[in-house]
Amino acid sequence: MRDAYIVQSVRTPGCKQKRGQFKETRPEELLSFIMKAAVERTEGLKAGDIEDVMCGCAFPEAEQGLNIGRIAAKMAGFPDSVSGATVNRFCASGLEAIALASARVQMGWSEITMGAGVESMTFVPMGGNVPRPHPEFSIEDPSMYISMGITAENVANRYNVSRADQDAFAADSQAKAAKAAKAGLFTEIVPTPAYKYVKQADGTYKKEQFIVSIDDGIRETTVEGLGKLRTVFALNGSVTAGNSSQTTDGAAATIIASKAKCDELGLKPIAKVVAYASVGCKSDEMGVGPRYAIPKALEIAGLKIEDIDIFEINEAFASQAIYSIRELGLSDSMHKINIHGGAIALGHPLGCTGAKLTATCLANLKEVKGKYGVVSMCIGGGMGAAAIFEMV
Ligand SMILES: CC(C)(COP(=O)(O)OP(=O)(O)OC[C@H]1O[C@@H](n2cnc3c(N)ncnc32)[C@H](O)[C@@H]1OP(=O)(O)O)[C@@H](O)C(=O)NCCC(=O)NCCS
Repeated sequence: MRDAYIVQSVRTPGCKQKRGQFKETRPEELLSFIMKAAVERTEGLKAGDIEDVMCGCAFPEAEQGLNIGRIAAKMAGFPDSVSGATVNRFCASGLEAIALASARVQMGWSEITMGAGVESMTFVPMGGNVPRPHPEFSIEDPSMYISMGITAENVANRYNVSRADQDAFAADSQAKAAKAAKAGLFTEIVPTPAYKYVKQADGTYKKEQFIVSIDDGIRETTVEGLGKLRTVFALNGSVTAGNSSQTTDGAAATIIASKAKCDELGLKPIAKVVAYASVGCKSDEMGVGPRYAIPKALEIAGLKIEDIDIFEINEAFASQAIYSIRELGLSDSMHKINIHGGAIALGHPLGCTGAKLTATCLANLKEVKGKYGVVSMCIGGGMGAAAIFEMV
């Protein structure tokens, strides 16, 4: 098998669903912008060099339906020759897209590919516009259809993750994100055009552009403030708006190339795609996913958990992130985990998240001069995924 090299990895900011800066910006606009930006930032590369785009999206319908992977490539001005597909593994969609795009290069089926991710939770809410659970199967196995918040409550209850621990974790995520944003450490963000529709004197609306450069869900947070929030998913529960991931709009893109193509075009590899693993687990506690996916990816790579310098473990909920960190024996390694905060502060744009966290992971590895990075997340329906990257 050949090696697959990442030569670019960027993201838009993540902005709050419905109330954030991207609330009037369609997902195709976010995605096509970041795909074009990824190409433009890669010296020696033309859009036509890319053979295929795999794009993750968790609810690929309506504005982000109709194969957004191909539509966004065309909107980005990529030539007809660049094919495109849309990939769905819920919260791992963006990582799955990068893994599939890498696998094509590793197999020798393509020389240069793009793995991307997009989700506008403003335009297409979680669950989709018209959810239609199967009538008999949803009675036989309702856990396949339950709220993700309930699965987070289940993890907290079954594995003794206290409200105090969840709130402390959430406050820490917010504090790290605020500090990193202030210090300009989110170098993987490309300032992104957003749109608003402004009413004119004659009653018509004009589409106006403005630029968004920061994740708009970061907020001043204290453990005391978090402690006052009511629970959202269960009466006597522990999961609140403050210790859950935020619902978010965003897009991200990564470009992958073979060694031969890097040499031919003079592309500078950033990292090698070492391994990717997905696992299944109980759907009513889907948050445990990273605890199983990370060891599987490490085993494939022939690495130990101590070899990893940076972990991006998606904070779908503090309860499941804490559980996974504890079970992986990483409680004393918090200086390596989500070093600039996670989805509790920065948002979780479902199908974009894997692609977004890959860009963040590589930027953070560069910052700390680390070698190996892990991106991992839990996945609705009861799954986990993890990828390992090696800086070159
Ligand atoms: C939990 C959830 C329902 C909350 O949504 P929301 O109600 O729109 O959240 P908001 O941002 O409005 O916050 C609700 C309240 O908590 C407060 N709050 C949120 N974060 C806070 C913080 N860090 N500190 C203090 N207060 C906070 C808000 O100010 C707001 O207060 P208000 O009602 O007085 O205005 C939503 O974020 C969610 O569904 N998250 C999980 C998404 C998910 O399941 N993803 C898939 C994972 S697999």
